[in-house]
Amino acid sequence: MANPEILVLDFGSQTTQLIARRLRECGVYTQIYPYNHPLEQIRAQAPKGIILSGGPASVYDSQAYHCDPEILSLNLPLLGICYGMQWLVHALGGRVARALSQEFGRAHLENLHDHPLLAGIENSSVVWMSHGDRVEVLPADFEVLAQSGHAPFCAIAHKHQPIYGLQFHPESAHSAQGGRILSNFAQLCGCTQEWNMQDFLTQQIQSIQNQVGSDRVLCAVSGGVDSSVVAALCARALKEQVEVVFVDHGLLRASERDQVANMFADLQIPLHVLDAQDLFLSRLKGVVDPEKKRQIIGHAFIEVFEQKARELSKQGVIKWLAQGTLYPDVIESVSAKGPSAVIKSHHNVGGLPEKMNLKLLEPLRELFKDEVRALGARLGLPEKMLARHPFPGPGLAIRILGEVNTPSLELLRQADSIFIDALHAEGLYHEVWQAFCVLLNVFSVGVMGDKRTYDNTIALRAVQASDGMSAQCAPLPFDFLERVANSIINQVPGINRVVYDITSKPPGTIEWE
Ligand code: XMP
Repeated sequence: MANPEILVLDFGSQTTQLIARRLRECGVYTQIYPYNHPLEQIRAQAPKGIILSGGPASVYDSQAYHCDPEILSLNLPLLGICYGMQWLVHALGGRVARALSQEFGRAHLENLHDHPLLAGIENSSVVWMSHGDRVEVLPADFEVLAQSGHAPFCAIAHKHQPIYGLQFHPESAHSAQGGRILSNFAQLCGCTQEWNMQDFLTQQIQSIQNQVGSDRVLCAVSGGVDSSVVAALCARALKEQVEVVFVDHGLLRASERDQVANMFADLQIPLHVLDAQDLFLSRLKGVVDPEKKRQIIGHAFIEVFEQKARELSKQGVIKWLAQGTLYPDVIESVSAKGPSAVIKSHHNVGGLPEKMNLKLLEPLRELFKDEVRALGARLGLPEKMLARHPFPGPGLAIRILGEVNTPSLELLRQADSIFIDALHAEGLYHEVWQAFCVLLNVFSVGVMGDKRTYDNTIALRAVQASDGMSAQCAPLPFDFLERVANSIINQVPGINRVVYDITSKPPGTIEWE
């Protein structure tokens, strides 16, 4: 595979992968490595520049993360972001200390100095801050390019060497012109900026072929975009070495099993449909803790896959399991490359049993949802499949608060299809990034036909997002919400109250569990 033009060394920020993604958007092939990526390997990869990411630590702590200081002698352009900038300042003899008040959220950049790093960036441009430490004293030969209300050293540069630092996060979507700043850095590095999704496809096909060799692969699909793209990618790279499997775990939405089977028939990719409803539902009996549910489901999936793999191995041993893990699943479950914090374990990452008999093939691990859709389009997948809302691997189990059982699943399925059908009927489905119902298992009093009811509650959730890492409540028309609420209450016996979830992410998450 081609060498990356820019290396990102990860100190554990939740947004490190967004740095790579913004660089991909401006045509730069980038790879992320842990902060302690060995110097010999960096030399062998011969990148044109290096970015040091943000991270949760403090450079002056005894537990701080340090990259090899020799990185400063490589004579390569270096850009430090947040902790990365503080590390550069610290390593070069400046001073970093705890800020009097932490700074999270929007700030305005006041440009003090013309510099190619900030070329084209308007004064007062909004940038996204997230830091508790700040630079107090610059190292020798550094100059300040911009400041903000709380950060006097918001953008800095060495006067004679290509070393730069940003206290804010240019990779965040909230930094209005952050992509332009990263593109400016790529230009300072002399990058060609010609990389595109077709190159990613070619690289991935080659990488899958190299990784797998002549082995056989089991590819698990859920019918969602991610796993369907993986299946198409594996089918393209490995032809009949891949077996595509769909597990009906009993936690699917109404008619989902048939829809998935038809979709793969149209794609002419052979599909094994496995019925494992009893296994999943019996294991989930009595379980209410969200993390436990996720783990049980993760384990049950692997059990079913391994059993099928053994069966299919009669025609040649299956050694790999391909899945549609995306970057947001990885970053919120485990530390991807650096030391980041765990938010929740997504079933296809954190829930895996430690000892698994299949090796994992996760070709989308570095991508975000919208990039996966672009890749799917390159692979020729139909628009109707690519435009489907995301659906989580643990399915409806994480949309039922409390115990998952057949009556609850039935209630949720009915309500959910009323909501989704209404979104389609009123032309709103493609206006939102994801929409679904949650069964709250909160009982309240109502009145229907002069009779008292004491029934369950449905929450409607609809969000706008671009990658699932952050999201906002979708401002659906109020009269539409009212119509959906009425339909659910009138058509689903057992539901007498419907609420609309207006929480954004953060502080909430998109799913309720
Ligand atoms: P959260 O709830 O973490 O969701 O804000 C972000 C996006 O990820 C989906 N999601 C999952 N997808 N396995 C998946 O494949 C999971 O365990 C999982 N949990 C959440 C969620 O639907 C949203 O699109």
